[in-house]
Amino acid sequence: MKILVLNGPNINMLGIREPGIYGKQTYADLLALLDKTAAEESIELEHYQSNHEGCLVDKIQEAYGKFDGIVINPAAYTHTSVAILDALKAVQIPAVEVHISDVDAREPFRQISYAGLYCCKTIKGHGISGYREAILYLRDLLSGIIGS
Ligand code: DQA
Repeated sequence: MKILVLNGPNINMLGIREPGIYGKQTYADLLALLDKTAAEESIELEHYQSNHEGCLVDKIQEAYGKFDGIVINPAAYTHTSVAILDALKAVQIPAVEVHISDVDAREPFRQISYAGLYCCKTIKGHGISGYREAILYLRDLLSGIIGS
């Protein structure tokens, strides 16, 4: 099973950016959690972070035929990017949306998620452990333990 974890703008600043909202754990801590989860579950995992919308679209397109599932935190592009939504719809790879913060409890402009219109599940407000939950959900979905 191959899972791609995609992170949008400023996620590389975890631990520095607004720790009251995003926590004190760093991007390196997140990568360590991803690698640990993948090793425990015998999942082949790749991760990618970009501050550029088109680079994220490119990665989603490149995932076609290569990955079984996508975990995506489009960050600010969640609320603006039809291009990321269209890329997810184009490749038709099962995807789970993750938000570190509880976007529902924040500003009104964070209530809209374009990527979420495609994703089969959204995990929000669980900090970086939301990524682990997303990977385990995809594991169960892809192995047929749960239905879509
Ligand atoms: C975020 C929430 C977004 O609204 C914000 O722009 C981010 C991070 C989250 O993980 O909580 O950059 O996606």
